[in-house]
Amino acid sequence: MKDIFILGIETSCDETSASVVKNGRQVLSNVISSQISLHQKYGGVVPEIASRKHVELIMPVIHQSLEEAGIKMEQLDAIGVTYGPGLVGALLVGLSAAKALAFALGKPLIGVHHIEGHIAANYIEHSMLEPPFVCLVASGGHSHIVYVEDYDSFEIMGKTRDDAAGEAFDKVSRAVGLGYPGGPIIDKTAKLGNSKAIEFPRVHFGGDSLDFSFSGLKTSVLNYLNTMEQKGEKYSVEDVCASFQAAVVDVLTDNLVSAAKIKGVGKVALAGGVAANSLLRSELMEKSKRSGLEVFYPKPILCTDNAAMIACAAYYEFLKGHTSDVYLNAVPGLKLGER
Ligand code: KG4
Ligand code: ZN
Repeated sequence: MKDIFILGIETSCDETSASVVKNGRQVLSNVISSQISLHQKYGGVVPEIASRKHVELIMPVIHQSLEEAGIKMEQLDAIGVTYGPGLVGALLVGLSAAKALAFALGKPLIGVHHIEGHIAANYIEHSMLEPPFVCLVASGGHSHIVYVEDYDSFEIMGKTRDDAAGEAFDKVSRAVGLGYPGGPIIDKTAKLGNSKAIEFPRVHFGGDSLDFSFSGLKTSVLNYLNTMEQKGEKYSVEDVCASFQAAVVDVLTDNLVSAAKIKGVGKVALAGGVAANSLLRSELMEKSKRSGLEVFYPKPILCTDNAAMIACAAYYEFLKGHTSDVYLNAVPGLKLGER
């Protein structure tokens, strides 16, 4: 069978990334240019700055990805690109580049849902993994429990009713003065603290609901900090981080294991930036062992935004014959499973 080479492009937030993937799961290159340092002084991503930086970086990043892969543009079989959800200006940069390339080369264009990409990162890491399984997609913008019935068939079983898990990490980090992005810093700081020091709330909606809520937890952390400051008492940043992280991870893992039981599947996976969290991984391993579930997660570089995951998802859409035309537009609020 002929090898299939797909160029993936990802610009939905603050990473400009391009990657060449062979036959869906073999990453030949995965160039990621992060803008984190540019946005750090603002405490979060500034959409206008992100778009402008993507414009500067997109072509050099694409060229570098082809060069590192040792692939000429003419050898590509298709171009996969994130077209939503994300920041509209940022998405448009990657999408315009992908459309121009696909049109000029006469190759198929494949619009990819960003979350579908995050889920696909697991296929790259685990060559034998196949649907069905349940996957927790937790990032700065999403906290979804997804039943992955097939490569192109998804059911959202639960989602956040307010803040995303990554957003909660970022907000709490800012509140304790640890900066942006909060996830990796809290993960590291929490290792030095006591997770039982402060009892922060865990929201379970009850009944059949697998939804999440993190805004009450965030408020509870802020209240704790304010109360301590008003009383003139010192608090331990390490204990706050450890106790907050434990509260988030408890709920994420409980709901994911419940989702696997509801669907009767034996595999659970993690995806998205928050999937890089060390406590999330270890606690899920522990709870899954008790329930006889197999656990999958990608290496950290494939958890956060990257184009290899987009190329992988595009490959499976390509096999199903799902291509897009040159009128494909950026859809900032794109729902999973919509086309
Ligand atoms: O998937 P991603 O790169 O971008 C979005 O699509 O949002 O995720 C970024 C999010 C940020 O909120 C960041 O704080 C969080 O993932 N994150 C983590 C960790 N690494 C990144 N959260 C918890 N623990 C980590 N180790
Ligand atoms: Zn993402």
